[in-house]
Amino acid sequence: MSELDTVDFFTDLSIVGDPAPYFAKLRAQCPVLREPHHGAMMVTGYEEALEVFRNRDAFSSCVGVTGPIPPLPFTPQGDDISEQIERHRPQMPWTAHLAALDGPTHTAMRAMLTGVITPTRLKNNAQYIAKVADRLIERFIDRGRCEFVSEYAHALSTLVIADLLGVPEEDRDELIELLGKPPTQIGGDAAHKIGPDPLVLLEERFTGYMRQRRGNPRGDMMSDLANARYKDGSEPELAVPVRLAKFLFGAGQDTSARLMASAFRVLAEQPDLQRQLAADPGRLAEFIEETLRLESPVKSLHRLARLTTSIGEVAVPAGTVVTVALGAANRDPRHFPAPEEFRLDRPNVRDHVAFSRGAHACPGAPLARTETLVTLQRFLERMTDIRICEAQHGPPHARHYEYEPTYLLRGLSALHLEFIKRH
Ligand code: HEM
Repeated sequence: MSELDTVDFFTDLSIVGDPAPYFAKLRAQCPVLREPHHGAMMVTGYEEALEVFRNRDAFSSCVGVTGPIPPLPFTPQGDDISEQIERHRPQMPWTAHLAALDGPTHTAMRAMLTGVITPTRLKNNAQYIAKVADRLIERFIDRGRCEFVSEYAHALSTLVIADLLGVPEEDRDELIELLGKPPTQIGGDAAHKIGPDPLVLLEERFTGYMRQRRGNPRGDMMSDLANARYKDGSEPELAVPVRLAKFLFGAGQDTSARLMASAFRVLAEQPDLQRQLAADPGRLAEFIEETLRLESPVKSLHRLARLTTSIGEVAVPAGTVVTVALGAANRDPRHFPAPEEFRLDRPNVRDHVAFSRGAHACPGAPLARTETLVTLQRFLERMTDIRICEAQHGPPHARHYEYEPTYLLRGLSALHLEFIKRH
């Protein structure tokens, strides 16, 4: 029996800590391979992943967030299931949100983000991020250790997205509570329960914020969204910017935190690299890209074949759920030689697909990169000898790390660090 038969990518906790060997075995068999548990076509090759992103006609994002769980609410029929998708969309999870939209509806909503996450806003925000970073660091620097995920990364990414959007300080804790756990929890039943708008609990508050800002902008991202127009100049119903703001609030929370935690794990495990970066912070941007490639905070994303098509040489019937394993594509040895190695000077590192490609590529990428860059700069300026806490994670030859139990995301549950404060 092969690994493919025994391991279920979507439910098996044994591969959450390190999915790379599983992905490598799949890729060695074929970079496009149907797994037997849910019938999803697993794409683990780099070129094959790009093929999926480019072929917008054949692939729908209606299952973009949760993939094959829950199963489709209909039985696909024929070589073009476009009409079936549209008819059943309201019964499918996340379909009210940008990430699961297709075609002109997606283009129109996505265009509203243009001018919202701008270089100027990010530049101004970098100063704010540095201030928040220093404030958080103050809380633990004299202790010489911290639990990086909860004490720093999660707190920073939450404060930054809330501030950018303009979510009032007094509402933030409650909204995070309402947001709940991210989708695709293994062992949880959330994926089966969620409807087209799992962020419905945030609706009332965000509708209130948007109402206050329509015609009365305050300089924050929600003001830009509230007053954005479609390309033809018409004003969207209030529900449209409300949905976008809720999604940005959710999407901007933890993904950057996962990237930061991965970056610090690498940094703390490789003292020579750490010294090199502290001496030459100009190379931090490359360091972040190589971390994105190697750790891929979004492990997998999904599409539904709307037409009978093919990926590489493999036939893909209409109605097939396609799981593009970003974490696997980013370690495809045909594109990234010695893919398991962390190489600061990898010449093609920016080819990685950690933020996806094409129409749905992540609009939050510049923000995530800025948060991580500023964080690395502040830590390396204020601390030296950042290392893994052995009492929590074990000695170098027997480390243990716990990762969040989801098939969508790759994030450390905790990262205990020790360091020396610089004087
Ligand atoms: C390291 C951090 C992040 C990673 C790895 C990441 C990754 C991704 C990926 C892979 C997608 C594409 C999904 C697809 O093709 O179906 C995506 C979409 C998206 N991301 Fe991010 N993201 C990150 C941070 C952020 C942040 C900070 C924000 C908000 C400011 C954000 C907002 C979004 C939105 C709105 C979409 C949907 C775009 C669309 O469907 O058109 N992301 N992200």
